[in-house]
Amino acid sequence: MKEIFTRISVRKYTDQPVEAEKIDRILKAAMQAPSAADQQPWEFYVVRDKAVINQLAQASPYAKCTANAGTVIVPCYRTEGLWCPEYAEIDLSIACENLWLETAAQGLGTVMLGIAPHEDRMEAVARALNLPANLKPFTVFPIGYPAESRAQQDRYDADRIHYIG
Ligand SMILES: Cc1cc2nc3c(=O)[nH]c(=O)nc-3n(C[C@H](O)[C@H](O)[C@H](O)COP(=O)(O)O)c2cc1C
Repeated sequence: MKEIFTRISVRKYTDQPVEAEKIDRILKAAMQAPSAADQQPWEFYVVRDKAVINQLAQASPYAKCTANAGTVIVPCYRTEGLWCPEYAEIDLSIACENLWLETAAQGLGTVMLGIAPHEDRMEAVARALNLPANLKPFTVFPIGYPAESRAQQDRYDADRIHYIG
């Protein structure tokens, strides 16, 4: 899959609106992820309200690029009714990788902005989205047509592979 090798963090976006069909496709890819006991702990907020987007951009010192985007997806996870709550953030990580790769496959740009496990950032996002207490924000993905590009680096390092037998 070529996007595994070409995907980059994109923090600048053009003003071109992102088609609803592309967002649907991205959310389908995210929800197709495996999860512990197939518990699917995720909920996805799709934010297009500029005032809320600006609030999300303030949720972390490293989230300012959010303000450049017309659409922002905030993956969250439930904290109640899960078989394996201790795996919820791992489940979300896998869904987020699917989301990021599908965004790249759609010709769009995004970047994963760290929210969980920082309590202060999680509280700021929960406030911005008015989340119920049983829902925790995991990360923030600003999405738009890329206004920057660069080649991805090659991270393959044969020295990090340890064969036994
Ligand atoms: C868990 C996680 C948290 C991240 N948090 C931020 C962030 O808060 N702000 C930001 O600008 N980039 C963030 N990034 C993006 C990384 O900086 C980026 O993925 C890394 O430098 C590699 O660059 P690449 O995505 O272009 O390959 C995060 C990435 C991950 C996986």
